[in-house]
Amino acid sequence: MDGATTSPDFRCSLCGELFEVEYPGWVERKGHDRPNAGALKWLWRERRCSSEALDRSGVWRFREMLPILDNFANAVTLQEGNTPLYHLPRASKALGIDQLFAKHQGMNPTGSFKDTGMTTALSVAKERGFKWVACASTGNTSAAMAAYAARAGLRSLVLIPEGKIAWGKLSQAMDYGAVTCQIKTDFDGCVRVLTQVVKEAHIYLLNSVNPYRLEGQKTPAFEIAEAFDWNVPDHLIVPGGNLANSSALGKGFREMRELGLVARVPRISVIQAVGANPLVRSFADNHGAEMEPVEAHTRATAIRIGNPASWRKAARVIQDTGGWCLDVTEAEIAIAKAELGSEGLGCEPASAVTLAGLKKLRAQGAVASGETVVLLLTGHTLKDADYTIDFHRGTLLKDEEKAGKEAEIESLRRNAVVVEATPEAVLATIKGKVG
Ligand code: F0G
Repeated sequence: MDGATTSPDFRCSLCGELFEVEYPGWVERKGHDRPNAGALKWLWRERRCSSEALDRSGVWRFREMLPILDNFANAVTLQEGNTPLYHLPRASKALGIDQLFAKHQGMNPTGSFKDTGMTTALSVAKERGFKWVACASTGNTSAAMAAYAARAGLRSLVLIPEGKIAWGKLSQAMDYGAVTCQIKTDFDGCVRVLTQVVKEAHIYLLNSVNPYRLEGQKTPAFEIAEAFDWNVPDHLIVPGGNLANSSALGKGFREMRELGLVARVPRISVIQAVGANPLVRSFADNHGAEMEPVEAHTRATAIRIGNPASWRKAARVIQDTGGWCLDVTEAEIAIAKAELGSEGLGCEPASAVTLAGLKKLRAQGAVASGETVVLLLTGHTLKDADYTIDFHRGTLLKDEEKAGKEAEIESLRRNAVVVEATPEAVLATIKGKVG
């Protein structure tokens, strides 16, 4: 594996904290030297009509906010970003919130929000001459990394916890040509192994400790602000796993405010699964000052993470924006996912924690009916079809997990039925249901 050098350390050797990309000039530059907010807004919108590859990317069309490459010709893009923002009429009505939307990051090229961060960090790897890239993953990061590495002509190494990721994601890593190692441990164990591997070989680490990942993952904040004509929503709700995404979106909104692109930032709330909730515990125990890792268990495998790397950054975002950090049960996740499905959207279980969390916040009176709320859906529903099928067949949840919610679950289940090959038999299945 010959490459330029070993992966840089992404933590400060003095305090152990993760690095973050900073652009001090944006704050210091005053008057005419300051980027012109109005001109940028115009330019970014114009680029949507351009046929240039970089302009067609929903990440790189904001490249003035991403001065991380020496030469933008090194950018590796699959035309990521520019994802849809959907109104959720049924959930809006049920929750009594008119302005409820879903920003669907599952509509990215490899089916998850990871593409926005992978285009930036992998472009840095390419520009710096690395031949190999690697990540530990619950599945989506590895799918995205393998795809972008393949586009760039780089080799990729994937470490995933054996038996604990959805098949759709594993199939992607294989298809895009990664060397895929199923490790007999959990995600946190994979991270530990990979940390050693990249110290010993010329491989660039593309886990979200890599600050260039967060640079790309901040761009949905720009898209959201743009979609609301630069009046940001009141509240953004994000799933929490390794906690990089919430950190990145917080950074995106903060930078927009610093540059005068928006006047304020939304509240950013982070939702975890009850079985993988170290940040929720940290807020309960010590207001986010310290975090104890947990052994993680949830069927939302994407966020089955007990020792999130970016927890300090995420805690700061929640505190600075006045957001909340809470957890939701397996049944609440399954119900919310089916509700999003019944809106014609669908998403991964890990994404559905956002709706489940909003329902809790609304019940607690933390969200007012007049607020504009955006749920960040992180992954495509087809990533984990097994979960969806198990839910509709009624085999997903144990009785104790369903307790008290049986009726709600039954009302959402739509199992497939085996039917004789006659029109009568088919018509009998919809009898009484068509009006
Ligand atoms: N939703 C999905 C679909 C994810 O894949 C992940 C993380 C998250 C939410 C949580 O985001 O880690 O930034 O807090 N997946 C990683 C992976 C860990 O390896 O694919 P986070």
